[in-house]
Amino acid sequence: MTLAPPTMEPMTRLDIDPTLDLFEEIERLKEETNTILLAHYYQENDVQDVADFIGDSLDLARRAQSVTHSRILFAGVHFMAETAKILNPSKTVLIPDMAAGCSLADSCPPDEFARFKTAHPDHIVVTYINCTAETKALSDIIVTSTNAVDIVKSIPRDQPIIFAPDRYLGAWVSKQAGRDMVMWDGSCIVHETFSHKELVRLKVEHPHAGVVAHPECPEAILGEADFVGSTRKLLNFVSDDPRDTFIVVTEPGIIYQMQKNEPGKTFIPALSEDESCNCNNCPFMKLNTLEKVYLTLKTGGPEIVMDERLRRRAERPLLAMLERS
Ligand code: 13P
Ligand code: SF4
Repeated sequence: MTLAPPTMEPMTRLDIDPTLDLFEEIERLKEETNTILLAHYYQENDVQDVADFIGDSLDLARRAQSVTHSRILFAGVHFMAETAKILNPSKTVLIPDMAAGCSLADSCPPDEFARFKTAHPDHIVVTYINCTAETKALSDIIVTSTNAVDIVKSIPRDQPIIFAPDRYLGAWVSKQAGRDMVMWDGSCIVHETFSHKELVRLKVEHPHAGVVAHPECPEAILGEADFVGSTRKLLNFVSDDPRDTFIVVTEPGIIYQMQKNEPGKTFIPALSEDESCNCNNCPFMKLNTLEKVYLTLKTGGPEIVMDERLRRRAERPLLAMLERS
């Protein structure tokens, strides 16, 4: 992956005219440059407000595949923008900050994963979408937290499975699908830091609250939840459920949409062990800001650029997932 040369002189935040209304400017630039802005639910509130479409990883991949605009600006992390490029290669795909990575993707270096795969020759490789294009290219089928259980259940019972890279999601899927799987030992630095003790304390403090959690959390946390699912499934659950208060055990960016959809309900963010560290805000997602969205639209960079052979190899397991979803 290389960073394409910017189409204009690089600009910095300091170059932004402080009198500009960035919300208006972003709308004008999107129109002028035929760009669609896709965003994940963990983006900061202002970025969610200027997005044309907000979704979980599966919805964003599907949306990216059908985009007719000439440019996609992807306000999310790198593997998400990369997935958009893999699925819609004729489009220019931009990301507000090229450093917006993901600890799960980083936890599965492709060369080590290739050796792991070789050590388990008869296994089908099921890989969570939170991984690099190189790791996707080593996989048989990609899954997201929305469809992982159904896809694993659909694999013949006598077929051994490797699941990568998230061991917590893998453990949850294994339990839900009733399948043993060989796990890659990766994790998300955000979801693994939620405190079980704090969660139990919040439950005692709010005895009528529902608890919703993302499956990237450890098993003890998931055991306290009334509902476990992808970000979109969590949003749907809190709208459909009659309770008026929810403890939310995932990145707190999602609470903005929960509150917008359900202004009469109360959403309480779960906490990590160390209250001072802000550990449950994804440091990668939060690298994207309104200013960077504006600068990216204006300068046309940073751009996701990919080797065509790698793209084709990474596309195959993604299409296998989309066909089954
Ligand atoms: P979702 O697909 O549920 O939105 O999850 C993406 C993610 O990165 C969670 O940490
Ligand atoms: Fe990756 Fe975790 Fe951030 Fe999701 S929350 S993008 S899994 S580091």
